[in-house]
Order: sequence, then C-alpha cells, then structure tokens
Amino acid sequence: MPNPVEENCRVILVDEKGNRILLHAIDEVQKIKGLGVYNPKELIGKDYWESIDISGKKFMILSPSIFDKISAIQRKAQIILPKDGMFIIFYCDVKSGDMVVEGGAGSGALTILLANSVRPNGKVISYEKREDFMRIAKRNVESAGLGDYVEFRRGDVTSTIDETGIDAVVLDIPNPWDAVNNALSGLKLGGHLACYSPTMNQVEKTVNEMRKFGLEWIKTLETMQREMVVGEKGMRPSFDALGHTGYVTFGRKIR
Ligand SMILES: C[S@@+](CC[C@H](N)C(=O)[O-])C[C@H]1O[C@@H](n2cnc3c(N)ncnc32)[C@H](O)[C@@H]1O
Repeated sequence: MPNPVEENCRVILVDEKGNRILLHAIDEVQKIKGLGVYNPKELIGKDYWESIDISGKKFMILSPSIFDKISAIQRKAQIILPKDGMFIIFYCDVKSGDMVVEGGAGSGALTILLANSVRPNGKVISYEKREDFMRIAKRNVESAGLGDYVEFRRGDVTSTIDETGIDAVVLDIPNPWDAVNNALSGLKLGGHLACYSPTMNQVEKTVNEMRKFGLEWIKTLETMQREMVVGEKGMRPSFDALGHTGYVTFGRKIR
C-alpha cells in the first residue's frame, strides 16, 4: 500500500454509509458528486486509511481496487459486467505480457479488466468505430490509471484487425461473426477468441462462422451471479440476482 498519497495517485474516498468516490490527486478544483466543490490535490500527503473531514462529512482514504475502478466509470454503451469479464480473462488465459485485441471499446469496462490483467508488459488494442464512445472509453481507462497499457484505434473490426501475433481477441459487437475471419488472421497459434452476445441467434451465427474458419474447442457458456443475504435468522438469495446478461462463445486457433 503506497503511503502517503502522492501526486497523480488514484484514491477512493469512502463515506460513513460506504459510498465510494474515485478521485485523481492531480485534478483541479471541481464539483464532485457526493463531495461538492473540492480540489483532489488536497489529498496529497495524507495517509491511506486516514479519516478526513470534507464539508462536515467524514471520509476514509483508500487505494482503489479494480472493483472500485470499474464501478466508477461513466457508462454510455452497455458494459460487460465483471462476472462475464473475469470469466473471459480466465478462459482466454489473459495474463501479464499478453497482447489482447478488443472490439468495440464501448464504455471501456472490459478494457479496464483486460488492461489490469496484461500490465505491466502487455498491451490491449481496443478498436471502436464510434468517436464518441472511444472518447468515453479512453477517459474511463485513464481515470482508472491504466492508460499506459491501452491503445485505442478508431476502426471497424469487421473490416480489419491490423495486429498479428495476438494472444486473445475479445469481441463485444452486435455481429461478431463478421469479424471471426479477421480475428483468426491476427491470432497467434494457440490464441483465443471470445465473443460476447446477449442473444442465442447471435451465438448460433458466431459458432457457425467459427466452425467454418476452423477454430477449435468451441464452447458457449453463460454465468449467473446471486448474492446471498445473510440475516441473523436465516439466509436467502438477494432479489437483485444478476440473471441473464450474455453468452460467451470461446474458440481457439489450434492449427
Ligand atoms: C456493447 S458496447 C461494448 C461495451 C464494452 N465491452 C464495455 O464493457 O464497456 C459495443 C461497442 O462496439 C462498438 N462497435 C460495434 N460494431 C463495431 C465494429 N464492427 N468495430 C468496432 N467497434 C464496433 C459500438 O460502437 C459500441 O461502442
């Protein structure tokens, strides 16, 4: 744990109700939701785990976890939730030093998870065809302190993927089947392809295309997440269970 807060650090302020605010100790005076007008530079020199008072409210200073970084992003496009993102990282064996190509960047939520997994020596190349989404994704990735590990490219993955020797390609676009051939050309031998799709029709088309181009070990999986509410007199599943979000189809370039 770094100690104390240095200039350029990301910190989380947690209030007494557990609400979390992600700040960058470099920004200028600004209006911050939950804080009012504040200059994050005032945090420089303070200790992590220290309690501070801002406008009569108490906050504790913490170093942000990957969960905090994802929770704090500005969402424009629908994001891949951590339950699916971590699953993609596991099945695609994404690790430090890897080169991962992503399409599209959307809000950058998956980009943050991928960048956190490939750092410090790897790279995420994130294709996005819309300028406005690319700007938001870039800002979110930079706010998470992971900008050094991501290159954004304005482009359409169904037309081209420029990179070769890629460890994993992850597609979260409406028509991933149209990018399977490009993904396969860029993947190194043994590389992984993952396609996230909300509907079964999309999965069918993607699997057919993966088979056509000779990808192997094809598998489509869905994960569900239920929190348990543990009371003094008993336990039950939360009513807010995360049911269906999307299916993830995996394939591997074996030959
Ligand atoms: C659902 S969002 C991706 C969300 C992202 N995975 C996240 O976790 O924040 C889909 C994004 O793909 C982009 N997109 C759609 N088709 C594309 C293509 N062929 N090439 C590149 N980007 C594309 C859209 O503009 C949109 O921003």
